[in-house]
Amino acid sequence: MNHSPVGFKRELRKLKQGRLTVMSEFKVRLHPSNEAFMVGRDELILDAAIRQGVQVPYSCRNGTCRTCLFEVKEGTVQPVDVEVCMISDQELESNRRLLCMSLCRSDIVMEKVQPRRRRNPAESVQ
Ligand code: FES
Repeated sequence: MNHSPVGFKRELRKLKQGRLTVMSEFKVRLHPSNEAFMVGRDELILDAAIRQGVQVPYSCRNGTCRTCLFEVKEGTVQPVDVEVCMISDQELESNRRLLCMSLCRSDIVMEKVQPRRRRNPAESVQ
């Protein structure tokens, strides 16, 4: 995958259109259900869940509705395009991630959290 800003957006578009082959590398386990699925290194976590028929909450698939907000309990998740996502720096520091805008960097355990509706991602988390 090309990691320049232009190349990354092009590859991200291909991933969202299903035009990129995915090699599964990491295991995602949902807490507390223990349901698990595999995610490719360059595959968005939400896309992997949908591809494998795993029921996770989502709506917009572009980082704005916050429906897919999860907390990472174990492992490393890399957020992408955080400048356009509705997620605050405080949430990122608290290991919260939007599944539709995140890539796995290890096996992970995640738990669903209830999103607070906010207009500005720079607002603080209470
Ligand atoms: S599906 Fe809307 S923010 Fe992820």
